[in-house]
Amino acid sequence: MRVLIVGSGYVGLTTGSALAYLGHEITLLDIDADRIMRLKDGEVPIHEKGLNELLSEARHNMNFISTWNDFDSSADIVIIAVGTPNKGNGDVDLTYVEVVAKSIGERLNPDSETIIINKSTVPIGSARRVKTIIEQELKKRNIVKSIDVASNPEFLREGEALFDTLYPDRIVIGTESQSATNRLLNLYKPLLEQSFIPPISIKRPEGLPLPSIITTSPTSAELIKYAANSFLAMKISFINEFAGLAELVGADIKEVTKGIGQDSRIGSRFLNAGIGWGGSCFGKDTAAIMYTANQYNFEMPLVHATIKTNYKQRESIIRKLQSELKVLRGSTIGVLGLAFKPNTDDLRDAPSIDIIRGLLELGANVKVFDPVAMNNCKKQYPNLNVVYTQSADEIFEDSHGVVLITEWEEFLHLPYLKLANQMKNKLIIDGRNVLDKELMLKCGVSYKGIGRGE
Ligand code: UDX
Repeated sequence: MRVLIVGSGYVGLTTGSALAYLGHEITLLDIDADRIMRLKDGEVPIHEKGLNELLSEARHNMNFISTWNDFDSSADIVIIAVGTPNKGNGDVDLTYVEVVAKSIGERLNPDSETIIINKSTVPIGSARRVKTIIEQELKKRNIVKSIDVASNPEFLREGEALFDTLYPDRIVIGTESQSATNRLLNLYKPLLEQSFIPPISIKRPEGLPLPSIITTSPTSAELIKYAANSFLAMKISFINEFAGLAELVGADIKEVTKGIGQDSRIGSRFLNAGIGWGGSCFGKDTAAIMYTANQYNFEMPLVHATIKTNYKQRESIIRKLQSELKVLRGSTIGVLGLAFKPNTDDLRDAPSIDIIRGLLELGANVKVFDPVAMNNCKKQYPNLNVVYTQSADEIFEDSHGVVLITEWEEFLHLPYLKLANQMKNKLIIDGRNVLDKELMLKCGVSYKGIGRGE
């Protein structure tokens, strides 16, 4: 199939390279001419596991363009994958999506059967909005035509985006017509077959079931995306709430998690207690769905509490340090990890930034280390008054306390005995419950996890 993908960001590029691997002819359109030039030159602008390799396997099926003049006006499918930033009040800024819809309507070949897909996470009703804009533009060209706009949300995790694209649990297809559903099924057909030959870089795990297809209305598909992310965020906040209680009653949340996660109705995933969630999706999507509910004067106390509990986790780190050190002014606190999760340099809604700001406000001196996110941090937060160290080890020197914020693999294997001896005060707050508690105690460290009942 001939597929145009608008937006070469995270979603556009990973989806595009995966679909090109499946054998579709992909054109990736981005108005950022510089980015397109670099993509044409073989540069990969985002850090995503296996993307370099997949792009080299699939590049022969990919074309990169930076102007709508080169647009194939009778493509089989146009996928909209542009940014949908938060306006700051929870509302989603649809400007980029609307500009794309207008551009499609201005150029679409009236004889084509092109299906438009909303891949970006968009507010409820966006499929209809895009349809209206395109049809209005066509009307200006004296063309009366009904356009199929489908909602086909992605559920990609950063760092695992290609795996999630090639081996999803489910594919949600929200359309109003059978022909659009059929075309989308064709788009993903190879993924639905046992005979699918996986790319070298992203193998299919043995025994993984084939994805199920879920066909819905566009509005249900739009809501599915918000419900999925809110539910995952809620699971994390739920266990974090119990972690708070576990500390008071003297239970270990890791044991509690094991005990409830084995119940298949609950499941063990997304039940790791800690500093809470960050990243580009959970915060934005929970805020957006609250905004939508509010427009209907409808209350969503569970989502509200999910958000509240999450941000309380960040504060709780400061409370733990205060309770141990009493006075933070003049103390030196080491921070291990800045990225919102390991294996990324992404700082969007990263708990580290709130925690560091809180520490600085209380007069602490803060040293930070992250294996990949420090440059990003310097760029995005030039006024953050911290000392960036060259290594994780340096974080411990003369510190009154060290907080582990991101569970990078290398932080699990530091020479803790040696490092503890270099601290002014042997206190480690493990914000992700990943360090070996027994080892910490052997090193003479006062070890505080999250909900570990110390
Ligand atoms: C998430 C969803 O998983 C994905 O389906 C959606 O499309 C986008 O949002 P992502 O933000 O890349 O993906 O990261 P994910 O791996 O899901 O982690 C999100 C946050 O939750 C991280 O900050 C992580 O540290 C935190 N988390 C996750 C926990 O605190 N505990 C857990 O048990 C799991």
